[in-house]
Amino acid sequence: MTARLTGKTIIVTGGGSGIGAGIGRGLAAEGANVVLADLNLAAAQSVADEIAGAGGVASAVEVDITDRAAVAAGIAQAVEAYGRLDAYFNNAGMNAPMKFLDITEDNFQLVMKVNALGVLIGTQEAAKQFIAQGGGGKIVNTASIAGRTGFASFAPYSAAKAAVISLTQAAARSLAPEGITVNAFAPGVVATPLWKKLDADLEKMGEGDAGFDSMASGILLGRPAQPEDIAPTAIFLAAPDSDYITGQVLPIEGGMILV
Ligand SMILES: NC(=O)c1ccc[n+]([C@@H]2O[C@H](COP(=O)([O-])OP(=O)(O)OC[C@H]3O[C@@H](n4cnc5c(N)ncnc54)[C@H](O)[C@@H]3O)[C@@H](O)[C@H]2O)c1
Repeated sequence: MTARLTGKTIIVTGGGSGIGAGIGRGLAAEGANVVLADLNLAAAQSVADEIAGAGGVASAVEVDITDRAAVAAGIAQAVEAYGRLDAYFNNAGMNAPMKFLDITEDNFQLVMKVNALGVLIGTQEAAKQFIAQGGGGKIVNTASIAGRTGFASFAPYSAAKAAVISLTQAAARSLAPEGITVNAFAPGVVATPLWKKLDADLEKMGEGDAGFDSMASGILLGRPAQPEDIAPTAIFLAAPDSDYITGQVLPIEGGMILV
């Protein structure tokens, strides 16, 4: 089978860990030039080194997705290195659970800023580059089952992921005239480092029974996802196979909430 992304340049935010690293590996295996953009440059560099060691093309760049200048600089660096930008994955995200009645303004603003504003900024800056190149291009956002149903222990995260779904739809409508597609996927429970901190935080809140194991126990397919379960859909959404799809959210949750 021929590689589906040969010569395409693709930025993956949050590419230094978990789902973003898995997407980066998958895209590189299909021939893409992958740029892993992360707050944690050392982590992104180590994923880039691993991809290069396996014969792929990858580099790392330090980006805070809430900082527009840094996002624009990351895109400029990718274009400088590889000549153009073909797809942009708004994947970086975080969670900071609190009991609903304890949620503070600071907690709400932090979680919304990273997970929702970060996606808006990434979409705008990637789209500006796509338009400057003459149009076309693909934006892919990491939503969540938490954007489809509100979870008691992390309402701001659920609200932010619902915002990711709305931003995906609004951007699809706004950018279609430029030939840009905007889609999202919504993972369920994926075994990544995010859960280590989330489980520890839930434990401290006295809600340890709302963590990874209990969430994963109801999955119809009988196991949580690994990042490798997400990569094939990410490849599909970056490849020409998905050219007639825009404004959509593809659930990848093993049969869990079914909405
Ligand atoms: N793990 C799951 O079960 C799950 C389920 C649904 C959705 N998601 C979403 O998938 C995405 C990836 O999550 P993951 O599980 O791989 O988490 P992770 O913690 O393993 O990786 C997240 C990466 O994002 C980076 N990051 C965080 N804030 C950033 C910022 N402001 N700027 C740039 N980089 C930043 C981190 O440094 C880290 O490398 C997130 O959007 C998350 O909300 C995860």
